[in-house]
Amino acid sequence: MNARTARIARGATGDRPPAPPPALHVEDVTVRFAGLTALGAVSLTVAPGSVHALIGPNGAGKSTCFNVLSGLYRPESGRVRLGDTELTGLAPHRIAALGVARTFQNIVTTEGTVADNLMLGRHALSRAGFAASALHLPRAVREQRAHRDRVREIAELTGLAAHFDTPVALLSYGDRKRVEFARALCLEPRVLLLDEPVAGMNGAERARTAEAIAAVRARLGLSVLLVEHDMGLVMRLADEVTVLDFGRTLAHGSPDEVRAHPEVLRAYLGVPGEDPV
Ligand SMILES: Nc1ncnc2c1ncn2[C@@H]1O[C@H](COP(=O)(O)OP(=O)(O)O)[C@@H](O)[C@H]1O
Ligand SMILES: [Mg+2]
Repeated sequence: MNARTARIARGATGDRPPAPPPALHVEDVTVRFAGLTALGAVSLTVAPGSVHALIGPNGAGKSTCFNVLSGLYRPESGRVRLGDTELTGLAPHRIAALGVARTFQNIVTTEGTVADNLMLGRHALSRAGFAASALHLPRAVREQRAHRDRVREIAELTGLAAHFDTPVALLSYGDRKRVEFARALCLEPRVLLLDEPVAGMNGAERARTAEAIAAVRARLGLSVLLVEHDMGLVMRLADEVTVLDFGRTLAHGSPDEVRAHPEVLRAYLGVPGEDPV
């Protein structure tokens, strides 16, 4: 059993949180699209077990940064590392297997129950294989049961336990978005990339999701890189904030430092009546 499998098995029994993940390093990453610099030598570090928020106006380069981190885009220059492991240029499934999982800005879940959707998230981790599962071999049955227990724990952590056997199509928008979040957690990531997890939600749904993010971070000990427009949520959850503007780092620091940063104030926060950041 390697360290990752051991951690997953531990998770299934609900033991204490695993050791903190390695730091995620983005170093001097540059991405250009037909002459437009979407990211110009951007660097940031997601410290082990921290929530790091990436904010900035539309077009700042936030999603491009996520796409580089998750392997969808290859940077023109610069590197991405998880601890000492080089992630730059790896295929998305390899990066996910190394423990970096993401959610997308749009909901992609509509079929089956919440439990079905979360079990789908476990398939990448399944060791017994489909043939053994189909034949109901004892090891496969045991493994399915362990996955099911873990999936139930994740549903509890993310506030979805009451909807475990509900078809996703019947859920509210906010609950469906949290299914996406929970499904990413089913991969047992060490670093979770959340792209606008509360976009389009009402106040109550936002509060529930914020609670779920805080609970997940505390219980699972993973790191989170959070892209979000809701400044209240960012200020409440983040340990560190990086502000991007036109593909450049405008400011970096604690939420209070960033909030008081003259450039940030001038550019985003200080203009009444405008959409903050
Ligand atoms: N696949 C792409 N092809 C061309 N331009 C792109 C592509 N993806 C993003 N861009 C451009 O790169 C810039 C950064 O976009 P994006 O990373 O989506 O910003 P954000 O997520 O901060 O709103 C924008 O000007 C956008 O139009
Ligand atoms: Mg975006």
